[in-house]
Amino acid sequence: MEYYRNKTVLVTGAFGGFGLCFISELLNRGARLILSDTPENVRAVGEGTVHITGMEEGRDSQALFIIPADLSSADGCRALHEEYRNQGIGLDMIIHNAGIACWGEYADVPPEFNEKIIDINLLSVMRLNALFLPEIIGRRGHIVYVSSVAGFVATPLGVAYSTSKFGVRGFAMALHGEIRKHGVRTTIVYPFFSRTPILKSRTFGNPAVSYLPGFCSSSPEHVVSCTLQGAARGRLHVCPGFFSRMMWLAARFHPVISAQRKIRGYS
Ligand SMILES: NC(=O)c1ccc[n+]([C@@H]2O[C@H](COP(=O)([O-])OP(=O)(O)OC[C@H]3O[C@@H](n4cnc5c(N)ncnc54)[C@H](OP(=O)(O)O)[C@@H]3O)[C@@H](O)[C@H]2O)c1
Repeated sequence: MEYYRNKTVLVTGAFGGFGLCFISELLNRGARLILSDTPENVRAVGEGTVHITGMEEGRDSQALFIIPADLSSADGCRALHEEYRNQGIGLDMIIHNAGIACWGEYADVPPEFNEKIIDINLLSVMRLNALFLPEIIGRRGHIVYVSSVAGFVATPLGVAYSTSKFGVRGFAMALHGEIRKHGVRTTIVYPFFSRTPILKSRTFGNPAVSYLPGFCSSSPEHVVSCTLQGAARGRLHVCPGFFSRMMWLAARFHPVISAQRKIRGYS
């Protein structure tokens, strides 16, 4: 796929499950990478605890630099942007991939944790775009957002998460309406469950999280490959894998799915 050759791509949450797959796919496709993750995860890479596929094949020169940044605050987002500017290179694509989740009923999750989910999953995306937009517009770049099926199907036991992913979808589509005239592309991806560390997120209270059969969850490699293929084809919405596509169709043709359940007295 030539689309990525020599493009400079910023990936957030770069050393998580999807992030590592983005790195290896993008290196294979000839992109140059700016990688960002939490200071703890960047340290783990430095110490060799996290293994990056692709680097050992002599492609480490394509990974331009790694920026530690905690994206849960405006200061962390500014620090990432400042460090990027200090390097004095152009940027063609941002992949907004960093994210957190938790399991539990809304009333059982501490309010600070719900707010942290919104800070990282939604506000960091808005803050980073505000900072990077002039650069992306100047280069007629591309913004890729990792939303979720929970970004179009309201999901109990992950209320703040679902809210953040709906927010990302709304933000991305609205902004797209403003910036496409500058030649900037937008791609929003909606993964269903995929086998990455986020599935082992913290649990609050005693949620009846039902057992998820293995066949329902897709491999992170597949999700990332579909994402990059869809983005290269200029797709606005990408549903990677069977379950994501089925949910997308079901939600479009059967809006009641989004309402979850009927409430007596309401139609
Ligand atoms: N896997 C799924 O089933 C699934 C489904 C739909 C959507 N998604 C979305 O896919 C994206 C990637 O998730 P993943 O599945 O690859 O999970 P993951 O392995 O947990 O990766 C998420 C990455 O974001 C990092 N991150 C967390 N908080 C951060 C912060 N404050 N500042 C900067 N980086 C931070 C994580 O660091 P830590 O390791 O320290 O947390 C991790 O490296 C997320 O946006 C997630 O919501 C995942």
